Amino acid sequence: ISLKPLNTFGLEAKAKLFVEVSTIDELREALASDEARDNEIMILGGGSNILLTQDFDGLVIKNSINGKEVIHETEDFVLAKIGAGENWHEFVRYALDQEWGGIENLSLIPGTVGAAPMQNIGAYGVEIKEVFEYLEAVNIESGDIEKFNKDQCRFGYRESIFKNKAKGKYVIAYVVLKLTKREHQLNTSYGAIYQTLEEMKAKKPTIRDISDAVTKIRQSKLPDPAKIGNAGSFFKNPTIDKIQYEELKTEYPDIPGYELPDDNVKVPAAWLIEQCGWKGVQRGEIGVHKNQALVLVNYGGGKGSDLKALAEEIKDSVIKKFGIELNQEVNII
Ligand code: EPU
Repeated sequence: ISLKPLNTFGLEAKAKLFVEVSTIDELREALASDEARDNEIMILGGGSNILLTQDFDGLVIKNSINGKEVIHETEDFVLAKIGAGENWHEFVRYALDQEWGGIENLSLIPGTVGAAPMQNIGAYGVEIKEVFEYLEAVNIESGDIEKFNKDQCRFGYRESIFKNKAKGKYVIAYVVLKLTKREHQLNTSYGAIYQTLEEMKAKKPTIRDISDAVTKIRQSKLPDPAKIGNAGSFFKNPTIDKIQYEELKTEYPDIPGYELPDDNVKVPAAWLIEQCGWKGVQRGEIGVHKNQALVLVNYGGGKGSDLKALAEEIKDSVIKKFGIELNQEVNII
């Protein structure tokens, strides 16, 4: 079957075998099948973090486990258990409708609930780990359901155990988040949010105001995958040590950087890429987005292999100019 409608880059690639599962039992059945035993497996959520460069000669399991339920509640908070296949942004909107706080900064992030903890999605000063309680995942080998609490997930910047030690070993089935019912802890520290709230004249911002501000900012910078194929930030923002940063600063006084507690500095990859002249560059059907240099785009019939080659060229030019190595955020298949 064609994976084109199942990846936000909109890239054409075929899967030899495909199954969609909507319950944990169906998932376990699919994992125990002969097809799964005899083939390589790819678990697909919203397809918003993959770059398909060729056909997949194996079994694609599309995780469509849905449902949302309150499993515990006090006057102050709820524990919401959400199926991994639920669309992330739809859940954010649902939470806003219930007046639940904690994920409003994470509005409009493409992808599914199950993929969110995998790479510890983050935006505008908030990461999912801050509201994360635990998740339930199916062990691919044994079929057992295992629980992972926050510590066990080993969250880091766009990192978790599921991208490292546990990579390819589990399928996330349910995610449990702890959300506030009152006295929401608003995070307006990110410059652009603060400014947008001012523009909106939101003096005493609500969680909905924050969601609206984030939505506005994202829509002005990031392409809508429904219109232009993309997978959000293609690279992670690199971390360099303070000494290297100071050296670069003498040569490039404008270089932005956010100091981290451990004497390291995080530098926006978008700035480095833009300085190398890539912003808005178009090559046939693919290119670098004109409003956000960190986002690679497929305007239509582009090829995954061409996008990969473009990414390599970008990486090389950033190393050459700044001596900084960029790492992909997107999984290349
Ligand atoms: N910048 C440029 N050129 C550009 C865009 C940005 O020089 O074309 C510089 C500016 O100095 C700007 C800085 O980069 O101040 C930061 O830009 P932005 O606020 O757009 O954020 P980012 O660091 O590029 C990260 C996340 C985004 C997230 C935003 C907001 C990563 C890899 N990306 O991007 O996440 O939405 O912060 O918090 O950390 C994603 O992961 O797919 C994603 C979109």
